[in-house]
Amino acid sequence: MFDKVQITNGTLELKDYKIKWTFDESHQCWCLEDILYTECATTPKFQRLSIFVPKPYMKAAGEIDEAGEMNGYTAKTVPIIFENNSAGYMQMPHTWLDGPRCYAHPYLQQGYVYITCGCRGHESKDAAGRLCGKSPVSLVDLKTGIRFIRHNRESIPGDMDKIISVGWSAGGAMSVLLAVTGNNDNFTPYLKENGAFMDESDAVYAAQVYCPIVDLEHADLAYEWMFAADKENEASPAGPAGIMSPFEEALSIKLQKAYVDYFNSLQLRDPDTGEILCLSADGRDGSGYDYLMKKLNEAATTYFTKLEKGELPERYSPEDYLRGKSDWLSWDGQHAVIQDLDSYVLKHRRRMKPCTSFDILKNESGENKVFGTPEHPAMHFNGTIAKAIWELKEDFPNEYEKYYWAYAAVSEDQELKRRVYLINPLNYIGTKEKSDIAKYCRIRVGASDADTSFSVSMTLALKLMQAKIPTDYQFVWEKPHCEADYEGEVIAWIESIV
Ligand code: DHB
Repeated sequence: MFDKVQITNGTLELKDYKIKWTFDESHQCWCLEDILYTECATTPKFQRLSIFVPKPYMKAAGEIDEAGEMNGYTAKTVPIIFENNSAGYMQMPHTWLDGPRCYAHPYLQQGYVYITCGCRGHESKDAAGRLCGKSPVSLVDLKTGIRFIRHNRESIPGDMDKIISVGWSAGGAMSVLLAVTGNNDNFTPYLKENGAFMDESDAVYAAQVYCPIVDLEHADLAYEWMFAADKENEASPAGPAGIMSPFEEALSIKLQKAYVDYFNSLQLRDPDTGEILCLSADGRDGSGYDYLMKKLNEAATTYFTKLEKGELPERYSPEDYLRGKSDWLSWDGQHAVIQDLDSYVLKHRRRMKPCTSFDILKNESGENKVFGTPEHPAMHFNGTIAKAIWELKEDFPNEYEKYYWAYAAVSEDQELKRRVYLINPLNYIGTKEKSDIAKYCRIRVGASDADTSFSVSMTLALKLMQAKIPTDYQFVWEKPHCEADYEGEVIAWIESIV
């Protein structure tokens, strides 16, 4: 595999590779592709990035044009979009123009420099076939990429103080992690080992975060809380479709309760009123529940308003859309109202994942593999599940024997706890951790996303707001996991912050 990987640079000094820039006629941009960002690469295919520069900022291959301008930006002032392609916490390559998962076009059209960065993931192997991509490696790779870009500031147009990270799902997790862990000392040994430029910063100016899969320690609990009403899951990466067993149902109830306690312990505040957000004991009432429903209602209201104004590609009216939905959704011309979360789940967006959903019983989800080691490629990481199984041992002795011990081992393993800690963005927001934190965040989540509980991104957004980091947070109606935005809105946001 090592021989077959295309690599443009023999050293990490891009000034030596000016002639390698090519021009893409259809996107009117200069391209420097397949660049290895560390000399210590173990898995080069995924430790590469590509740079795309709108035409006005270069006069010839690799020659920056100081006088060039586009949409009011110059080679000195233009923001740099740093998009990671992380997905499923797997190894993912950088993207290429018009290729799969490539979102370069709107950014280039606006005149921004666009960089797409690959990273290793849980299944990555080195030349000797040894696993080398477990937590926190994906994040460390991306930080290494950012430091590499800054090191090459003379060769890449763009304002190195205006790097804006973007990512989807696991990549959304990476994007917000980049935003809240800038230059955090926890990563120093990993960065050194990874051959990163230690005298450069890995902080970002702002982060666009789509459908983030974060707070993995509590994601199983949150999932059971949100999808409590639904005992049936569709086929998903975490497992086949199925109906909950009596044990899973009992476990789900325990986890729902544990989630209510966890959520209430966070003491989150409503950003508008300052009121503490809490959940009632049954999880279906309280200011925290109301806040989530308010955000969902807002998303539906925005959708209907846009439909009425003809601003969407969809050509039907709100009335057309509402046909057959009146038992859970209403619209009075100004406000949309969802009846309640359980009807939303049962009638609109059903459960996707089984119970448990991230640290899954069979110990074979992507997340289990993220926290594995070369010796144990998959590992449980959520000790709360052990507690719940313990409480069920009288009624379910067989399941207790089968599952308890592996989950209980989590609390003994300090190394594992550390690696779980390192990639939870909540640990860096409003805590004692010292990082160079991004100035702005924007979080968008599809209102038809069932890859994680809505409360996960909500908690992230509220934590950021409480830490006084301006955070633009919305659900986007009818959008699934990942591609959750209205056309042009991310560009409008970037224009408003740079
Ligand atoms: C992604 C999706 C998941 O359901 C998950 O558990 C982790 C990551 C993703 O799309 O990146």
